[in-house]
Amino acid sequence: MRRPIVAGNWKMHGTRSENARLIEEVISRYPADPAAECIVCPPYVYLQEVGRLLRDSAVLLGAQDVCAEAQGAFTGEVSATMLKDVGCQHVIVGHSERRLLNRESDQLVARKFAAAQGKALVPILCVGEQLTDRESGRTREVVARQLDAILELCGVRSLASAVIAYEPVWAIGTGRNAAPEQAQEVHAFIRARIAARDATIAAVAPILYGGSVKASNAAELLAMPDVDGGLIGGASLKADEFLAILAAAGSR
Ligand code: PGA
Repeated sequence: MRRPIVAGNWKMHGTRSENARLIEEVISRYPADPAAECIVCPPYVYLQEVGRLLRDSAVLLGAQDVCAEAQGAFTGEVSATMLKDVGCQHVIVGHSERRLLNRESDQLVARKFAAAQGKALVPILCVGEQLTDRESGRTREVVARQLDAILELCGVRSLASAVIAYEPVWAIGTGRNAAPEQAQEVHAFIRARIAARDATIAAVAPILYGGSVKASNAAELLAMPDVDGGLIGGASLKADEFLAILAAAGSR
């Protein structure tokens, strides 16, 4: 049985006071022994302070990215050791915004994934096709290529301590979520591809859906058998929306 996971990706949003308000509201209404695991991923600069606000709560801290290198002359970068040092348990790697805007390759994402695991951080690996890929029938090919880069560098066993997030790029921030059946189809494809290498790991690997998840569509997406939770952007910035998604995941 896979425990549902809901992760909030705040992207480049928030101020110290907005963060404090949001976290206080979430943790005051989030049960101490929750049915769904909850992770929040603030911008780097707020990690330590948000981590302090989360102390004594069951909500976990994640970062939005990590450098593939361990340390050195990499101006502006943040290492896995540093993320661990400020209290992160998770880190997102390969978000489509970084793949597209920062031209991150599948191989670089795989190295980030390895760097995270090397410091006992749980990577949240994002995969997903662009609209043109879907329209030309290349969804599986793209997702397979993104997943295979991890399998080749880190091996299938690495997925025993990782989270995968399927995020169709056309659904991110657009208000147009994938239909539950569309999400399920790709999630099942991802799980089958892992199962071809190791059925036991495929059975336990959490696969989240991301892309315009909100309170009003969470339950139907989470009802799909291979959808194990959500990676939430915009709706993670609103306590009521985020808590409703957590509740939907918890009663899955
Ligand atoms: P969205 O973003 O929920 O705002 O669509 C999801 C994501 O980018 O992780």
